[in-house]
Amino acid sequence: MLTLSAIKADVGSIGGHTRPSNRMMRAARERLTDAKARGLVLDFDLTHTGDDICLLMVHRHGSASPQIHDFAWEVFTAATVIAQEEGLYGAGQDLLKDAPSGNVRGAGPGVAEITFDETAKERPAEPFLVFTADKCGPGAFNFPLWTVFTSPLYCAGLMLPQMKPGFRFTVIDMEHAGGDRIVALDAPEQHIDLAVLLRDENRFGIQAIHSRRYPHQQVVAVSTDRLHTIAGEYKGKDDPVAIIRSQGAFPAPEEIVSPYFTAHYVAGDARGSHHMPLMPAPINTAITGAYCLPLVACMAYSVTADGTLSDPVDVFDNPVWDSTRLKAQEKGEEMRRQGFMGPAMLPIQELEYSAFRNTLAELEDQFKIVEPFGPELAATE
Ligand code: 13P
Ligand code: MG
Ligand code: MG
Repeated sequence: MLTLSAIKADVGSIGGHTRPSNRMMRAARERLTDAKARGLVLDFDLTHTGDDICLLMVHRHGSASPQIHDFAWEVFTAATVIAQEEGLYGAGQDLLKDAPSGNVRGAGPGVAEITFDETAKERPAEPFLVFTADKCGPGAFNFPLWTVFTSPLYCAGLMLPQMKPGFRFTVIDMEHAGGDRIVALDAPEQHIDLAVLLRDENRFGIQAIHSRRYPHQQVVAVSTDRLHTIAGEYKGKDDPVAIIRSQGAFPAPEEIVSPYFTAHYVAGDARGSHHMPLMPAPINTAITGAYCLPLVACMAYSVTADGTLSDPVDVFDNPVWDSTRLKAQEKGEEMRRQGFMGPAMLPIQELEYSAFRNTLAELEDQFKIVEPFGPELAATE
């Protein structure tokens, strides 16, 4: 078996929530190189998306491996020390616990992992994509994944015999703390039930998708931990990572990326408090836009049966995405023009995790019920 682990965290960035420093990235690379030399990982890649560092590791320790998770924590801790030395902003931001033993899930970093049989006859080659998003939550993937895995409008491949049996979605209640509260729903039959849940991107997220033609094959993994559920208060946005295997009985990369030309609105942005469009951007892009527009990067890889990664292809680093980027910027400006009003800002339940909740609580205390008709009596007081 081979495992792909993508573990992502924000442990400090330059001049605000922009990007990690070169020294932080070098320290992470040194540790990954060493892990490869001593055989802990077979291969790796290291990227950042905005201020989040993503470790992609290929190994044989399985999903949720204590060795791999402890190692990832070590890498993030080393990068945190450098961020502290350099006086960077938010040093160690996503490391919410002192030292988790054996599993970084629930401790802050985002984790997406898929384990598969590299000898399976139905997978003669193993192409896959890694999506890394900054300034948004895991629900940002609800729209593109629902459309690609349930609707031939975005993925005509669903009409082919291998995909016609559909896909099983594992949906998680991201508001639930302690243990995963999940439900399995099958598309195409239950695509409306899926829609009913997934429209609420703050509460429900897609944790996994499996093929129904080959039920042992996991196609998608998304990091679905929400920092506020773990910490009980706003600790930065959740900045998700997703792994999606492609081709054969799974959608093709060009189908998987097709919903991103919508530049759909997601929850996130400045202080994680607004709705803004998701802009597809090249990997290793710093966040510098107004209200820090949410960004998503996508890297395509192939991996051999012995765990060697190909060179990556930076999918959104291409002029075909320029018009989407422009559209995202225009949609963002349009939304921001109405400031904080109505849909521009997140619903109150989301803001309650931030310092807003103190002011809200104070205002709640000042409300009175005046009978029978409030305003007149209030005016005579
Ligand atoms: P990050 O979650 O990327 O650190 O962003 C937090 C934020 O509040 C940006 O305004
Ligand atoms: Mg940050
Ligand atoms: Mg971030």
